[in-house]
Amino acid sequence: MIGEEIEVLYEVDSTNEFLKRNYKSFHDGAIVVAIKQTAGKGRMGRTWYSPEGGLWYSVLFKPKVHLNLHVYTKIFSIAIVEVLRKLKVKAYIKWPNDIYYNGKKVAGILSEAVSVNDRVIAIIVGIGINVNNDIPEDLKDIAISLKDILKKKVKITYLLDTVNKHAWNLLITYRNETENITKLWKKYLVPKEGDKLKVKVDDQIVEGTVLKIGDDTLYIDVGGKVIGVQSIHQIVE
Ligand code: BTN
Repeated sequence: MIGEEIEVLYEVDSTNEFLKRNYKSFHDGAIVVAIKQTAGKGRMGRTWYSPEGGLWYSVLFKPKVHLNLHVYTKIFSIAIVEVLRKLKVKAYIKWPNDIYYNGKKVAGILSEAVSVNDRVIAIIVGIGINVNNDIPEDLKDIAISLKDILKKKVKITYLLDTVNKHAWNLLITYRNETENITKLWKKYLVPKEGDKLKVKVDDQIVEGTVLKIGDDTLYIDVGGKVIGVQSIHQIVE
């Protein structure tokens, strides 16, 4: 189960970093929730703004057989989107795994592996959801909170519980058929195959058409040449 063991911290640098330091003291499926983070981390070394009112937590996985990191990330992105849709928030996944509503980011996921002597011994999936927190003025064009979408506050414990239960169900249902996780993820994913988009590659913005979506690569036709776009690249439009 996810969240049977739970540690709630009032303030921490980052729940991912906390679990990286303390993973030995927790069991598989344990979660660490913070009321606020002082050094929340986003993907690609970005800062994740995490004041009181949001849902900031990390899940620890220590299974005997590890699934690929992207599988855990996809499971949580699907779980968050499906839980939000039940709340009548038409969320979608912006490639690779950002949760968006109407062009603005509602939630993000940062999955990290802990390795010892090149062997993965734990996986940490960090989840950040803008729930009842205010979005600062300079981020209002790109981010939004659930309370501003729904015009009312959302119970954080309800969200935590339902996302974890749903992620667990997805994990036990599909762990031996991860191609079905990819299929489900693609259902909520933007862009879709055939869409046109602009991507920043090596500081250059290139425009192309999505030919194929792989597990962690977008194959784009740029003027007859196929380029593979990975999550370190940025989709501009
Ligand atoms: C992203 O979209 O860039 C990923 C954001 C992940 C934020 C969460 S909040 C809980 C956990 N602790 C962190 O420092 N980051 C993740």
